[in-house]
Amino acid sequence: MATVGTNRTLPWSWYTDPAVLELERERIFRRSWQYVGRTDEVAEPGSYASTRAAHVPVVLVRDEQEALRAFLNVCRHRGSLVCEGSGRRATLQCPYHAWTYGLDGRLLTAPRGAREGLVTDDIGLVPLALDTWGPFVFVNPDFEADPLADFLEDVPEHIAAAGIDVDALRFLRRPESELAANWKLCAENFLECYHCPVAHPGFSAVVDVSPASYLLETGRTRMSQFGAPRPEPRGSYDPAGEVERGQFHLLFPNTVINVMPGRPNLSIGPIVPVAPDRTYRFLDYLVAADADDAWVEEMLAFDAQVGDEDTLLVERVQQGVATGLIDEGMLLAESERHVAHFQALVVDALA
Ligand code: FES
Ligand SMILES: [Fe+2]
Repeated sequence: MATVGTNRTLPWSWYTDPAVLELERERIFRRSWQYVGRTDEVAEPGSYASTRAAHVPVVLVRDEQEALRAFLNVCRHRGSLVCEGSGRRATLQCPYHAWTYGLDGRLLTAPRGAREGLVTDDIGLVPLALDTWGPFVFVNPDFEADPLADFLEDVPEHIAAAGIDVDALRFLRRPESELAANWKLCAENFLECYHCPVAHPGFSAVVDVSPASYLLETGRTRMSQFGAPRPEPRGSYDPAGEVERGQFHLLFPNTVINVMPGRPNLSIGPIVPVAPDRTYRFLDYLVAADADDAWVEEMLAFDAQVGDEDTLLVERVQQGVATGLIDEGMLLAESERHVAHFQALVVDALA
């Protein structure tokens, strides 16, 4: 394993090597809390929604007692995915041979099963750890996981301190994207604003990204950035409102939470590795129930512009690190300290 010091990046081969992704799935994503969706997606008893925690297919279920559960969305018979999309049903039936599970995960019936001596008693969908913060649902494939609160650290307090009541937010939309870059490049790009003055002119015209003003705060596995609006923003976005500064959190490994300055708002979503050089993302955008439509559109357009700029950046880096001619890169000690922290967490997990 190459040296990872304060000013050396991870070996660049880690961004292209399928064996590294395999190890990351087993050592990181197999045992981490991950954002999978919102409680309003499974509001009614009997509703289900299929989602994923990295490579792990997940089905969320609201049972008849209104308890929220998460199961591995994999049939115990021969491994088909059980549910697709979302809806409302009394049972969950596998589309392959119709093995049918209760909303509590127990196998209820299997065609021809009784006649052929199949004992269904101890068979059921595999439960996954599930917990919520306000409307936000998190799943950990490790059923014995540490509590969600440990993972969130003080992010809920930071959000509340900004005057945002997560339970009072209204869901707007979920843009999805797929990027031609390793998931770690997406996370690392999120973790520094060293690139902001160069690559995000619009964002930098609104948020003061100078080192004196833009704050980095590192928790155990939580990396946060705080940026106040410039006194007179010159961008396309009007940050007038009670939220005084932007907050950008990454909860290791792959949950991103953003708050833009201005009126109450929040976006949250995962960075999902699909292949060594492909990443899937979605972001759930929420705003105050009474948010003004014109302001919402302005904020979303502004954010989409920054997102498009970031996509280009990370896809360029993927092409650069994939050449195999350079072993590793360098990090600035202060401006890129979150990147170093993130990389140290990856190294620790894989060691
Ligand atoms: S794989 Fe699900 S019923 Fe056969
Ligand atoms: Fe960026």
